[in-house]
Amino acid sequence: MTSQPDEAGMGPGSPAGVDPDVPNVARMYDYYLGGKDNYAADREAAQRVIDVFPQTPQLARVNRAFLQNAVRHLAGEAGIRQFLDIGSGLPTRENVHQVAQGIDPDARVVYVDRDPVALAHARALLVENDLTRVMQGDLRRPDEILAQKELSEIIDFSQPVAILLIFVLHFVRDNENPYEIVKTLMDAAAPGSYLVLSHAERDTRLLDGVPVYDAATSPAVLRSYDEIARFFEGLEPVDPRPQDGGPDNDIETPEQAASGVVRLGTWRSRWPTFHSDAPLPAFSGVARKN
Ligand SMILES: C[S@@+](CC[C@H](N)C(=O)[O-])C[C@H]1O[C@@H](n2cnc3c(N)ncnc32)[C@H](O)[C@@H]1O
Repeated sequence: MTSQPDEAGMGPGSPAGVDPDVPNVARMYDYYLGGKDNYAADREAAQRVIDVFPQTPQLARVNRAFLQNAVRHLAGEAGIRQFLDIGSGLPTRENVHQVAQGIDPDARVVYVDRDPVALAHARALLVENDLTRVMQGDLRRPDEILAQKELSEIIDFSQPVAILLIFVLHFVRDNENPYEIVKTLMDAAAPGSYLVLSHAERDTRLLDGVPVYDAATSPAVLRSYDEIARFFEGLEPVDPRPQDGGPDNDIETPEQAASGVVRLGTWRSRWPTFHSDAPLPAFSGVARKN
């Protein structure tokens, strides 16, 4: 491993507090997505995960597609104008503000991540303005995120907001109270707000990749379908079935369709959209606070 940024990657220096020798979950994800904002240590760790589960890059791509699909629905049909994306990661293509502001140029978006590299890149690449902001924050301390002045400058919590927790809660351990975290965030949101969430599944195909994350900046906590669905308790599911009148056979059970929490890649979509080889070990859903 090297501590030198390489020509393809991180530029002439590392943001303060960044150790390029420790695999970083934001940069590993960037590697899965084919990005160049990663160091050798990130690539080696990511490659070990890919060796265990070769569909990992596809998992990341389909997850991005879910995020974009959900934001399109919320900014469109659901009329949501405010988005809070926590664990937003390194900027990639079609980030939340590009999708939402493509539908309504006045949509407001706040990105929150705890990772200094993700923040540095987000600030460099995203236009921060009266409608879009990048903020440091740790999902494990939701009250601190909610109390930040920068957040209230962009998001009006008396109006509906979509809270996006996309592939981030599996970095919060059980003893860090993940369910209370989601509840705190949703309690702060006005009626008519939405939760958008995706989460890796405790699937045997992923288990051997977990030790790689134990040595990275965040350990990975895989959860079962029921444990993931529990994040949506008390909220009204948004119908996850494709809305074009075609079949919804890719949703595994009527119970899953009713709960709104379905396998990643099937939320208002069908498998062929993603050329997926096999069902992906993750679940996703969207639900409304009444
Ligand atoms: C797998 S990436 C997901 C990025 C993006 N949400 C997506 O799905 O495309 C996970 C991101 O969550 C961030 N993260 C992990 N734990 C976090 C925490 N406790 N608070 C805030 N961000 C966190 C990481 O830094 C990383 O950028």
